Amino acid sequence: MKELKVKRIESGTVIDHIPPGQAPNVLKILGIRGGSKEVVSMVMNVVGKTGKKDIVKIENRELAEDELDQIALIAPNATINIIRDYEVVEKYKVTPPDFVEGVVKCSNPNCISNTNEPIVPKFLVERKKPVVLRCMYCERKITEDIAKYLM
Ligand code: CTP
Ligand code: ZN
Repeated sequence: MKELKVKRIESGTVIDHIPPGQAPNVLKILGIRGGSKEVVSMVMNVVGKTGKKDIVKIENRELAEDELDQIALIAPNATINIIRDYEVVEKYKVTPPDFVEGVVKCSNPNCISNTNEPIVPKFLVERKKPVVLRCMYCERKITEDIAKYLM
């Protein structure tokens, strides 16, 4: 059997096939930051069947599909594996949501959502593959490097 960099988990959520180097941004989207009490392991730049990838494992918690779908903004091919009693009981690919709120900042410095006004940035997902976001305040599009605009 192939040696694992991080051991199998008993229960929780495994996010696999994340583009190399993007695991910290996946945690950011899920709101897992310094000070978090979640049991999390992460591997970056491991070589899988289809090249380099990152993996994130969150133990003892089954994250909701709509929360996980936000990951598609930066990891379009990520797979979600729900683990119970060491078995993968559910597996699916993330799909971009129709609407994104409070996850990404607008790329337009003059946008009202980038001023001191207490306004939560909101985007329509105009295209899903590749993802194109359109700001609901200034209409500016974000077409690439979405990771750069994470809040
Ligand atoms: N995994 C885990 N703990 C388990 C079971 C699986 O951490 N108890 C992880 C595996 O390490 C892998 C992912 O969950 O990163 C998916 O597991 P599995 O479906 O067994 O692997 P593959 O068949 O290689 O998945 P895929 O076809 O999606 O690449
Ligand atoms: Zn804007």
